[in-house]
Amino acid sequence: MAHFAALVGLGSYLPPRRVTNEELATMFDTSAEWIATRTGIRARHWAAPGVATSDLAVEAGHRALKSANLPLEPGAVDAVVLATTTPDHPCPATAPQVAARLGLGTVAAYDIAAVCSGFVYALATASAQITAGQARRVLVIGAETYSTILNPADRTTSVIFGDGAGAVVLRAVPDADRPGVILGVDLGSDGSRQDLITIPAGGSRERSTPGEPDPQDRYFTMQGKKVFAEAVNRMGESATALLDRVGWPAGSVDHLVGHQANIRILKALAQRLGLPEERAVVNVDRVGNTSAASIPLALSDAVAAGTLPSGSRVLLTAFGGGLTWGAAALTWPDLSAA
Ligand code: ACO
Repeated sequence: MAHFAALVGLGSYLPPRRVTNEELATMFDTSAEWIATRTGIRARHWAAPGVATSDLAVEAGHRALKSANLPLEPGAVDAVVLATTTPDHPCPATAPQVAARLGLGTVAAYDIAAVCSGFVYALATASAQITAGQARRVLVIGAETYSTILNPADRTTSVIFGDGAGAVVLRAVPDADRPGVILGVDLGSDGSRQDLITIPAGGSRERSTPGEPDPQDRYFTMQGKKVFAEAVNRMGESATALLDRVGWPAGSVDHLVGHQANIRILKALAQRLGLPEERAVVNVDRVGNTSAASIPLALSDAVAAGTLPSGSRVLLTAFGGGLTWGAAALTWPDLSAA
């Protein structure tokens, strides 16, 4: 029997410390107004020292399982997929620890490394496991602690990124027309431009050069202006290709949930897709760029605000380091976020 993968649970978690633009203006050569006008960001959350990505992932995962009415016990899900740029350690992956701490038993658990596109990549992989009959229920988490990789000497990246986690549960269902079913995904990459977004050290490349890596090379770097143009183009192309495939006219999308990198990118993307700006879901003002956590955090906020009614057409699209990008389409299910 054919299976389709439906979204049946949603949860999110932000660390308590809220960092405003005004506070950052006391730490960096910047102003609250520059940050708000150039990015749309007004505040973000940063994890306390000692808090790791898995800590946020466990909280969001717990809430998504609760939203899906699933217990914290072995058998609740068949796999845990965690998208992150900031794993607890270079080795091993963070997902097995998250699965164990959630009490989910000895399930398959693995990380996805696609930077800000990580959640869409993870959703695609989890959905494919279900449609292939390898899993009946999968917990998909996007979690990040970017505050741990920001360069205190780089005012541009330091004002943009925030920490947080969001998660969804996908479940096998027999029919494709049920709300929540992932109707299609589109994924892409361009590794020839990997230098635009990178952490130079910490992997095998710099380790193999003589001497210790420059401490500066352990921080996240981004060429913002070039990334901006790529982000709009790649998300626009990916979303358009997917809409063609699922047979949705662009104008029929009710909610565009783009990667929350910059309000100007979200507006340009809506315009490129021929959608009124109000159809773009926006929470970058409250959380900043949370990379792989961005899309599930935006979905959670929209559900909590009551602006994502069941039955509406939702288009997810993301872009990030790699370069990587992707899109996914679904009709929104009837659920409450936890
Ligand atoms: N405060 C004050 N001035 C600043 C700051 C700051 N925090 N940061 C940069 N500036 C200055 C620059 O030095 C520059 O000054 P200059 O003109 O004298 O040289 C000026 O502001 C303009 O700098 P730009 O980099 O051109 O600024 P821009 O308007 O492009 O905004 C930003 C920068 C916000 C990073 C933007 O380019 C952006 O959002 N890029 C896309 C990010 C993105 O999409 N990321 C998604 C993927 S991320 C991932 O995968 C992890």
